[in-house]
Amino acid sequence: MRPVLFPFALGGLLVVSCLAAIAQNSGPTNPKKQEMLELQACAAAALQGFRPIADNRAQRFQAKVTLLTASCRGGQKAVQYRFTPYVDWSNYWGTGDLSSLPKGYLSTAIPQARGVNGALLDLEYQRIELIKFNLFDNNLTYQNYIVGQNGVVGAALKVFPPLRLPATNPFYAAVGGDGEQICKGDLIRGRTLAGICNDIRNPLMGSIGTPFARNVEFETTFPDQEQNQLTKNRHGGRINLMTPDPQVISRKLFTRTQTANNGCNQGFGSPTFSPDVNCDYQKAPFFNVLAAYWIQFMTHDWFSHLDDGHNGSGMISMGCASHKVNGVETPLTADQADKLGCRPTDLVDKGLVLQDSAPETFTHNGGTYMTRAPKTFANNNTAWWDASQLYGFDDISVKRVKRDPSDQARMLLVPVEGRQGGYLPVLAAGDPFQPQWAGQESVAFPDNWTIGLSFYHNLFAREHNSFVDEFRKQAAKTPNADSGLRNPSDPTRVIRYKDVTPDELFTAARLVVAAEIAKIHTTEWTPQLLYDEPLYKGMNANWSGLLGTGDPDDSKALADIVVKGFGKSKNATKESQWYSAFASGPGIFGLGSKVLRYSITNPDDVNGGVNHFGSPFNFPEEFVTVYRLHPLLPDLIEVRDVSKDPNQIVQKVAVIETFEGKATEAMHSRGMANWGLSMGRQRLGLLMLHNHPAFLQNIKLARLDTPTQQVDIAALDLTRDREHGVPRFNEFRRQYGLHQLTSYDDFVDQRLPVDSPQRKQQEETVRQLREVYGTHVCDASKIITDAQVNDDGTPINDCLGHPNGSVVDNIEDVDTVVGFLAEFTRPHGFAISETQFVVFMLNASRRLFSDRFFTSSFRPEFYTQFGVDWVNNNGPGPVQMEAGTPNGHRQPVSPLKRVMIRNVPELRPQLKSVVNVFDPWGRDRGQYYSLEWNAKPEAATDPAFQR
Ligand code: HEM
Repeated sequence: MRPVLFPFALGGLLVVSCLAAIAQNSGPTNPKKQEMLELQACAAAALQGFRPIADNRAQRFQAKVTLLTASCRGGQKAVQYRFTPYVDWSNYWGTGDLSSLPKGYLSTAIPQARGVNGALLDLEYQRIELIKFNLFDNNLTYQNYIVGQNGVVGAALKVFPPLRLPATNPFYAAVGGDGEQICKGDLIRGRTLAGICNDIRNPLMGSIGTPFARNVEFETTFPDQEQNQLTKNRHGGRINLMTPDPQVISRKLFTRTQTANNGCNQGFGSPTFSPDVNCDYQKAPFFNVLAAYWIQFMTHDWFSHLDDGHNGSGMISMGCASHKVNGVETPLTADQADKLGCRPTDLVDKGLVLQDSAPETFTHNGGTYMTRAPKTFANNNTAWWDASQLYGFDDISVKRVKRDPSDQARMLLVPVEGRQGGYLPVLAAGDPFQPQWAGQESVAFPDNWTIGLSFYHNLFAREHNSFVDEFRKQAAKTPNADSGLRNPSDPTRVIRYKDVTPDELFTAARLVVAAEIAKIHTTEWTPQLLYDEPLYKGMNANWSGLLGTGDPDDSKALADIVVKGFGKSKNATKESQWYSAFASGPGIFGLGSKVLRYSITNPDDVNGGVNHFGSPFNFPEEFVTVYRLHPLLPDLIEVRDVSKDPNQIVQKVAVIETFEGKATEAMHSRGMANWGLSMGRQRLGLLMLHNHPAFLQNIKLARLDTPTQQVDIAALDLTRDREHGVPRFNEFRRQYGLHQLTSYDDFVDQRLPVDSPQRKQQEETVRQLREVYGTHVCDASKIITDAQVNDDGTPINDCLGHPNGSVVDNIEDVDTVVGFLAEFTRPHGFAISETQFVVFMLNASRRLFSDRFFTSSFRPEFYTQFGVDWVNNNGPGPVQMEAGTPNGHRQPVSPLKRVMIRNVPELRPQLKSVVNVFDPWGRDRGQYYSLEWNAKPEAATDPAFQR
């Protein structure tokens, strides 16, 4: 026995002595001693082994590690902040800027690697558990997901009967009618208009009109309906659609504070666009206005509750009716409303509802479950990342997409006097459009049209044509060469370059543009939104693989392990627990596409790379919630002129003056290059409370036939979430496997010095939260959730750890949007909060995993070889590398930089020193994820840098 026991005894000793040493080590210490202690902690943590994946949601990771692991990966700092509710990895070595590296250690590289790799490991644990615990489909597939089907456990199911095409669908017969349904022929060649046949065995998945999914247990949705005892206990009758009052919340917690007499004029600026007026806002130093509009452009591809610009019938109040006085909801007087600036007579149209009949229930292993949420809502867009905002998603929207009559492969672009390059045509008589869209460019998704949307729609229409033009040049050079394209109805016919028809080229160009957009979002926008090393690595891993060897044989071998080893397995544990982790090796993009003897008529080849983890793909309502990002917008755009001095702000144009038809006018009068430069130079608004654009609180919407015609978008964001039954903030976090908060005080960033002005400001916000949401006397006998338990295994009750009968904050009632904007504690460089981030982590990966055009159908047979190379190399010709090593990485010239230089060549000089198009163009990026706001030498005279 001895030889076996001895190492265990030694190991136990090491663990105990190490824990004791860490506990004693609270003050400043000698770096060498600290380094030794961390190494011992690493050894002791390794002896304890990897954390198992949780068996049930109550045991989830919550991104909180053991004392030893924290010490190993982040030293004293990581140990010190373990008590906060927030993720531990943000305090590891190397996960911030240069100051996150240790001083006085033998090497900084080793702790940095421990910290960054440790962070990546924590993130992967979170993703694995998110896939395991957070998928709830509303298409009536949920019962099989829980119970299994024909001996296959739910998480391994791949075919979902409710996602067959109904007999009313025009393609019903083509996919097999009432027999086995499988898409083939023309239906699988590219992205279909309505989004059917992406998954060829589940034709309806992700198509227009299918219900939004959920990421939270159905029983926790619609908390104000208090459907079960837990929700009753959680909210105690305190919440409903109008309580707490949405406009009061907006005015008290969202309004931007303005310097007196700055000319902001409620966000409407100066009618002459004077550059001397100002609207104050909290600015993100590392993210620009182009990034704000990028995400609006993306959401218009992914989802819409509105149907062609309209909501449901009937109106609802927007509040401005009551507030809390001494904790009691009390009517607002006219004077009080006036003082607050809210409008009691505002009304808005009700949201559209898909189903609101009571859902059926089923029982399994002693539990009772709902088969869907009590209400469902249709996604009136295709859920796929298919550039549907550009190309259309139904019979109406596609009529607004104009193809060039002289060449059907191209988009129609028309000249605008005095401007270089073509522009999208304006909506004309005969086009289907809502009155409020008059004067706008003719595009598939015209709602809430802005200067940023105009910019990106024009840019990618030009990019579409650039691809077509370059393809044609290649066809002229090598007309008889194999283009790689195949027609599944005639699969053996080689399609030479000269044989590719205009329609085929249009379809391939759409695939290429959609994939470029997905690549920009994954490898350029997101790493700037989450500006630190773990996320840079993580996002690039989704695209090109964690190992990033660049060797096609390596990545094929890794992909084979994932797709063949896991994708076809019926073992759900393996399937859902390790698939995503292993996929990080080769990357999700292109998974299953590197198959020897690939056949376009073999469904296993065409569809083999996708994995829905047993639950069909659509965005959940909670995803829409975390994309309510209106604080990103400034009130005024600082306009610059590319032909003059780019450092000069020539005018300040109110964003509202670039809304709907005025966006098109503004685009034509100043041109793509000037808007690109202006939005590229300006910082966007930080996602935090007290930072909502004033103009959006006062906007007039032409579609509204109401006394004010106005609506407060901050209040509307809350109202819509309440209509959609999104759980409130604390339960939302628990559902996603994050640690709960126990009072409003938990929002304060504990890393700030006690007397710092920033901390004082945060404490003031906490006071306001308490005023708006209130407090109550708690009752420890009331259990409020089953999603998590206390550290000692006891159920979580109404007192959240405070003594029974004490006055506790109504933290359970805080709207999720308010809560995530109040999260002051964030990982370095995070423009969003960790609560938003977990929602992205799950759904952004799924959006790649579920889409065959990003996995097994990312192939020349669909994209053409020219198209595959274009996506991989960021344009025609070989990949181009950026000079130097930004943040320590050799990096290709970014995809969006190349798209812009190609299609708006006037911007080439402005983009020369830009590494990431979403980082303000005049900012000196400094070293290692610096967030400093310092000018590059060429931007030294830019007034934006004057403090
Ligand atoms: C001038 C700029 C913008 C205006 C005027 C605007 C206006 C609006 C309006 C009126 C709605 C409400 C629709 C309804 O429920 O009735 C809305 C919804 C929304 N907006 Fe914006 N928005 C702007 C920019 C942005 C940006 C930059 C984002 C960033 C992601 C964004 C994200 C959203 C989302 C996620 C929704 C919910 C959509 C849905 O329910 O399907 N918006 N916006």
